[in-house]
Amino acid sequence: MSGFSRSTIGRKYAMALSAMFLLLFLIMHLSVNLLSVCGKDGPFNEASYFMGYNWMVQYIMQPILVFAVIFHFVMGFVLEIKNRNARPVKYAVYNGNANTTWMSRNMIYSGLVILAFLGLHMYDFWLHEMTYKYIPGGGDPTDIARFWPDLHAKFAETWRVVLYVIAFILLGLHLAHGFQSSFQSVGARHPKYTPLIKKIGTWYSILIPAGFIFIALFHFLTQ
Ligand code: HEM
Repeated sequence: MSGFSRSTIGRKYAMALSAMFLLLFLIMHLSVNLLSVCGKDGPFNEASYFMGYNWMVQYIMQPILVFAVIFHFVMGFVLEIKNRNARPVKYAVYNGNANTTWMSRNMIYSGLVILAFLGLHMYDFWLHEMTYKYIPGGGDPTDIARFWPDLHAKFAETWRVVLYVIAFILLGLHLAHGFQSSFQSVGARHPKYTPLIKKIGTWYSILIPAGFIFIALFHFLTQ
């Protein structure tokens, strides 16, 4: 085995581990945000306060999350460039559907849309929260009741809801390939379990984005 492929396999493995961590993050992130549809007096404020102020979440889970997100994107680009360079100049006869799906060949593009979404999303929520916490006069950080109204207000604008929903659909397509691919990359291949992993991946890639779309539309329609 050449050094090149060995390191590519290593990169793919590390990429898959970061993907698996992000798959877990999405379940947790969706669960917390789904609480927001219980209304302004529901458990969303308490849950958000816990996530924003608990030391384990803040100083252990969040740094790991930031690392995983950055690593996943950087490594995604690296692998894409390596793959392109490794491909024969141009396939004489290229049958794109031979053994790959359209989505698996375009992970980089769905990934770029998700990256753009994260830029907007960080501006919308994370920057807003940092202002509350760390900028004098930015707001009262002990005001637990602020989380729900702030989130609800974000979904008042049609353009933002449209962009979010488009991003969630692309997220679903990214996950449709990414879920099962991450298991394959860590070597989890088995005639009995691979079909099950694929089935769970399909449901995951539908239900998680659908949950996020539901939240966005719920807040938009209940303004
Ligand atoms: C309707 C859907 C969503 C809502 C309402 C939502 C809400 C939020 C909120 C309120 C925060 C700020 C948390 C804080 O710092 O206090 C946040 C942060 C974040 N969101 Fe989302 N989010 C949604 C979808 C997504 C999706 C689909 C992704 C990933 C593709 C994502 C990734 C992140 C990340 C990485 C952070 C920063 C880490 C953190 O603070 O926990 N979000 N989101």
